Amino acid sequence: MAQIHKLAAIFQTEVIISHHTMCMNEKNFERPDEFIPERWLEDKSMSISAKNAHPFAFMPFGFGPRMCIGRRLAELEMRVVLAKVIFFFKHFENSLVV
Ligand code: HEM
Repeated sequence: MAQIHKLAAIFQTEVIISHHTMCMNEKNFERPDEFIPERWLEDKSMSISAKNAHPFAFMPFGFGPRMCIGRRLAELEMRVVLAKVIFFFKHFENSLVV
């Protein structure tokens, strides 16, 4: 990464890493076109696990000294929202009018 940074400075070139392209590449993630939320579980034993991918293949919050300082807050908010969705679903599933 540091080498890319130096080369970019020497040649005055902007380097852009496409997060979407990396995530849609089968070399990084098996069956990238499919919605498989289980791939994000901590369990590495499944071949589909994102934990087996290259550590830099998925970096939504960036990396290094300038990485996102709100990462923990953002992840906490996502957990709270998901927990609330599950909570309300469990409590209201029986009262749904179909
Ligand atoms: C899903 C939510 C979020 C995503 C995906 C995200 C993503 C990112 C990314 C990719 C960067 C640039 C990292 C880099 O240059 O290497 C960044 C920087 C930053 N983020 Fe976030 N962010 C999120 C939420 C938040 C929240 C909730 C806050 C504040 C409460 C926040 C505050 C910042 C700040 C201040 C920087 C600049 C850090 C610096 O340049 O030193 N972000 N974020």
